Amino acid sequence: MCGIVGYNGSSNCFPFLISGLKSLEYRGYDSAGVAILRDDVVHLVKTQGKLDNLREAFRQAPLEGVVGIGHTRWATHGEPNDINAHPHKFGRVTVVHNGIIENYRELKETLRDRGHHFTSGTDTEIIAHLVEDALEAGSAPLEAIWSTIGQIRGTWGIAILIDGYPSTLWCAKNGSPLILGQSPGESMVASDIPALLAYTREMIFLEDGDVAQLDGPDIRIWSAPQTPVTRPPQTIQWNPIMAEKGGYKHFMLKEIFEQPRSVADTIGERLHADTHTVTFDDFSFVPDRFDRIFLVACGTSYYAALIGKYLIEAMARMPVEVDMGSEFRYRDPLITERDLLITISQSGETADTLAALSLAKSRGATALGIVNVLGSAIARKSDHTIYTHAGPEIGVASTKAFSAQVSVLILLAIHMGIATQRLSGQDLADVVDALVRLPKQINELLAQSAQINVIARRYAHSPAFLFIGRGINYPVALEGALKLKEISYVHAEGYPAGEMKHGPIALIDEELPVLAVATESNITEKMISNIEEVKSRRGKVIAIATQGDVHMGSIADDLFLVPRTHPLLQPVLTVIPLQLFAYYTADIKGTDIDQPRNLAKSVTVE
Ligand code: G6P
Repeated sequence: MCGIVGYNGSSNCFPFLISGLKSLEYRGYDSAGVAILRDDVVHLVKTQGKLDNLREAFRQAPLEGVVGIGHTRWATHGEPNDINAHPHKFGRVTVVHNGIIENYRELKETLRDRGHHFTSGTDTEIIAHLVEDALEAGSAPLEAIWSTIGQIRGTWGIAILIDGYPSTLWCAKNGSPLILGQSPGESMVASDIPALLAYTREMIFLEDGDVAQLDGPDIRIWSAPQTPVTRPPQTIQWNPIMAEKGGYKHFMLKEIFEQPRSVADTIGERLHADTHTVTFDDFSFVPDRFDRIFLVACGTSYYAALIGKYLIEAMARMPVEVDMGSEFRYRDPLITERDLLITISQSGETADTLAALSLAKSRGATALGIVNVLGSAIARKSDHTIYTHAGPEIGVASTKAFSAQVSVLILLAIHMGIATQRLSGQDLADVVDALVRLPKQINELLAQSAQINVIARRYAHSPAFLFIGRGINYPVALEGALKLKEISYVHAEGYPAGEMKHGPIALIDEELPVLAVATESNITEKMISNIEEVKSRRGKVIAIATQGDVHMGSIADDLFLVPRTHPLLQPVLTVIPLQLFAYYTADIKGTDIDQPRNLAKSVTVE
């Protein structure tokens, strides 16, 4: 879960390295470092903490060079201190690494017996030792790298520099993403697209098992020793501005406000409003092919999956099971070649979701990925992919990716409902009409964001919150609670409102605000009863209700109204005030909203 960058060209490499690392900081920010080749020797600057610390260290000991690599770390092995910060150098070899070398302990023992001395507590350092060991034995650099890859097990995105080779940078990939870019006179490598966007839109996605060699602008790739391979570049549609804050105080706020566009782009040309049909480039549902659907994801994407169950079961009348990747992969699931596995992932890299995908495929299931990042591992390993067009999401707490995922699930449910002939006539027309209106309604809702700020201020010092909802808004309550926990560090729990009597109601007093997602549905009255039960125990209620609701205002202490839509489409609207509530609460508390403590955006380890 780290970010790596590398540059090989004719300009001073530090500006590229630092701006690339800045855009990869969402992958971890425990420490950062760079290594730059100068006069045939690789020099290191690395520090614990965020990039500002590295900038300061660099200011005190500046280095110029045209070939360099950099790293931003989310610690897995070895505490986050200066010594464990990457790059790691041994002998002539300097390395940065994203991933986990699973057999590093055994390899370390063997090398120790042969006199190697290790300075860090990381798994990564072993790579520098193994390459140096092979060089020492007379191998050429490329050979030494292949020999190292033959000995390590696990996942890696690696960039390597070697003293005495002033114009070459090597990299290798297995399980962790690695993308190459090329522009006149220079080539570069990074863990993710945004790091390269300011330099090029033409990007090469390395495959697992690849090794690449960058010599100035020249890139050569091998898929195995002595096996050169051509990987054609893909053109990325994202532009650099999309990965900048654009005047917003935080990426998260910008991303919340981008939702009218990202939902509209995701629906895009897939919805044919005139003919009431939905088509996808890479997927077409054949009902007789499948008995069941499994939705598997982690974190916020898992809550989107829960919403997907309501949508698909309601519109297509197909049975849907939902699992977290970490549960699915170890519970020996009853999945067969008659089932469709749908994984949902913003990054397309989450380790548990990926493992669930491999397991389902090994049992013969068909795999469909709903993914935001182009060419990511889940996209490549799935039989079919539907991309969410949310654009780059930088804030660690997911917002626009969630509403884009739910938008794809709505489209998918309509598509499946038409295929199973369970959705037609007026019902189909109603949901299609509502979907067309959704982006504009999100816009209207965002125009009221100041109201949420006022409400958030009123409750900002509460020690804990309860979020409740029913039906399709129950997962929205879970997501609202997760957002608040992630960025404001306040305890929040999401609960189905109908279950309150089985425990959580014991918590209610005037100190515990309850956020009730209570928009119009066939069970609004049940929800009102649950709110009354909270009120009669002196609880404070913040209600999210539908515009025109005349009732809720008289019961709730605070009220936020969202536009009326089709009941199954409500999550796309009701989640937005909860995202804003979490954002404003965290802002009042002064936490690090885009990079909350202990979290990372891509969880590539289990
Ligand atoms: C991390 C992120 C969350 C995200 C989850 C799943 O926990 O902080 O925002 O929802 O991973 O990530 P994915 O990329 O698979 O959607």
